[in-house]
Amino acid sequence: MDRKEFLATVGIGAVAALCTSCLAACNPLDPMVNPPTTNVDFTLDLTTPANSALKTNGGFIYNDNIIVARTVDGSYIAVSSICTHQGNTVAYDLAANRFHCPAHGSNFATNGSVINGPDGSPLMTYKTTLNGTSLRVFS
Ligand code: FES
Repeated sequence: MDRKEFLATVGIGAVAALCTSCLAACNPLDPMVNPPTTNVDFTLDLTTPANSALKTNGGFIYNDNIIVARTVDGSYIAVSSICTHQGNTVAYDLAANRFHCPAHGSNFATNGSVINGPDGSPLMTYKTTLNGTSLRVFS
């Protein structure tokens, strides 16, 4: 094997090792890879079937990596659905009135703050306003 062949072989091996490592570790929703959306402004029509979960306390939907939930008291809240630990998707837990990540057990208050980890970073929060049957979610 000459020098040129050696370098080509080592180079291909290094690229393959890096790709394999990244594919195994990189979660496309990882907050380090895909941070929460900061420029948000959309409106949900609460009369459409896709948003029907928001007619009931405890119901929630996902829209562009944001979870919009109707809380125990009937108010609407919106936070990033991307867990700040390793990027899994959080869900609203009506019984505890909090957001829960099933991957490793993180819990977040309705204001996005951490109740318990493993990660200590809060979820990004968004504002909501209800006008009739239109729910605006914005940053
Ligand atoms: S990814 Fe949510 S607790 Fe680990």
